Amino acid sequence: METGLLHLHNLLRWVLLILLLWSIYKAYTGWKGKKTFSAGDRKIWLFTLISAHTNFLIGLYQLACGRYGIFRTSLPEGESLMKNHFFRFFWVEHPVAMLLSVILITAGYKMAKQNVADEVKYRKAFIFFLLALVLILAAVPWPFRADIGRPWFPGMN
Ligand code: HEM
Repeated sequence: METGLLHLHNLLRWVLLILLLWSIYKAYTGWKGKKTFSAGDRKIWLFTLISAHTNFLIGLYQLACGRYGIFRTSLPEGESLMKNHFFRFFWVEHPVAMLLSVILITAGYKMAKQNVADEVKYRKAFIFFLLALVLILAAVPWPFRADIGRPWFPGMN
């Protein structure tokens, strides 16, 4: 089950990125094109929200019980967390940045329900989603990142 969850965490990153890009496109074209907010827009934003929250929950499991989880491993003898690049990334930087990105995605989705002009909905959601995207791109352990790099796709190691 553990490997399956890690693979799912890896794969869901792509689902989330695609949906988030789609949400950003919808928000931007809606804003600039002065469109009327539609049920289709809300649906894409909702799917983005669901995939972000799901991956967040799987991430919490990884942080607690995964192979490098807090309850499964300990820091190398005599090392402090903030001085160890590997553990600082997986225990602090990655979770904190992803938590912020999920908060931003939730704020973006909530714009769909706000009682404001459609232009405001689209514009604010665009900003929230874009900031979330920047954070996710910065905090994913991409394969080219030294020490912390992870495969592009599940099982590719
Ligand atoms: C919600 C957006 C998130 C995305 C897009 C994301 C993405 C990823 C990716 C692509 C990996 C590499 C997976 C692999 O090795 O195949 C990973 C690993 C990991 N993530 Fe996340 N993550 C997210 C949220 C979180 C959160 C919120 C936490 C913790 C609270 C977390 C904790 C971890 C840990 C501990 C690992 C290392 C697991 C291991 O290698 O055993 N992630 N994440």
